[in-house]
Amino acid sequence: MYLTKDEERMLGGEEGYAVKKSMEILTALGNIYGAENLVKVGSVQVAGVSYHNLGDAGLQYLNELAKDGKVKVLTTLNPAGMDLEDWKKLRVSKEFAEKQNLVIDAFRKMGIIISCTCTPYLIGNLPRYGEHIAWSESSAVTFANSVIGAKTNREGGPSALAAAFVGKTPCYGLHLDEKRIPDIHVSLRATLEKLSDWGALGYCIGRKVENKIPYITGIKDVGLDELKSFCASVVTYGSKPLFYMKGITPGSERHDPPKEKVTVEDEDLRDAYEAINDDVDAIDFVCIGCPHCSIKEIARVAKLLEDKKISPNTEFWIATSRQMKRLADKRGYTETIENAGGKFACDTCMAVAPLKGRFRSVATTSAKGCYYSRHNNMKTRLGSLEECVEAAVKGKWS
Ligand code: F3S
Repeated sequence: MYLTKDEERMLGGEEGYAVKKSMEILTALGNIYGAENLVKVGSVQVAGVSYHNLGDAGLQYLNELAKDGKVKVLTTLNPAGMDLEDWKKLRVSKEFAEKQNLVIDAFRKMGIIISCTCTPYLIGNLPRYGEHIAWSESSAVTFANSVIGAKTNREGGPSALAAAFVGKTPCYGLHLDEKRIPDIHVSLRATLEKLSDWGALGYCIGRKVENKIPYITGIKDVGLDELKSFCASVVTYGSKPLFYMKGITPGSERHDPPKEKVTVEDEDLRDAYEAINDDVDAIDFVCIGCPHCSIKEIARVAKLLEDKKISPNTEFWIATSRQMKRLADKRGYTETIENAGGKFACDTCMAVAPLKGRFRSVATTSAKGCYYSRHNNMKTRLGSLEECVEAAVKGKWS
């Protein structure tokens, strides 16, 4: 890979340990994937924030980098393992909280903005169309590539961090226009009615197209919440972190539907629900906000919970960014939700919080949330917002 004089200097250690280490990571990746050069990035989103996933080895790695590492571009974080301000409310142990705070301290020292969210595009880390970025979290990467039209590979935590210290990333994969050409036509012939249907659709398409880039036709209208749910699901269950929706997502007008074609029918959606759902009655955990809730979703939950009480046998979480929670505070949604017995889980989520062994079954609007909850040994129910809130109130799925 070609390096400029400046990049050679960084690789030689003239800007310190963190930059040198980062250049080593970036050049190694560039050489493996055949990048010709490094390209400037407009922003970075770093995954690998939860102490639950990092452990002591990860914490030590971050502390080493934090000794002299300072990010060169706007950098935000993926969810951590707990609500950074109110972890006790989520029944996180003191030992875990202490370690998680050390992780956050290391990131803060690096100059990273402590916004722990997988929807950075809702809180100010919003790339421009065509901009090169280095983001990590799969749903956010898919949203950035497909809905915004920015360009990013799905970075690992260390390579994203390296891009933040250098301000550049190797130019390969989805940074190149020729690697962003759709290669399979998905014709949608199913009816989508509720938010969770978009997660089920992501499951169907992810499974059908595997590692290809889908060009989806047959969608007339879609909102932001549906798109973020679809992004999370389609990449979790199969495809590359890029898709096109004809007439909806940027760049779709520049491509014709590819020759290879699959269809998605109502029956496929039904099969998806069957595959994602377990046979379960009692629900002891309900989580809305995978990806993190928008203010519109929080408003809908607040409306559904007016004059209701969450079952004493069920824990109800709204996972969102701290900024979104502040907006919810101002608009009175927080009060309604907390009065009903719900809890805000800011800065964290159902996949990266240390939940193993705490709950037996979860109801959620998120197909991706179901995937990760099974890893936490929970039985899963995917449903609409209304169904999930009802499950939280009754303590069971009906
Ligand atoms: Fe976000 Fe966690 Fe879901 S990172 S997409 S809320 S699994």
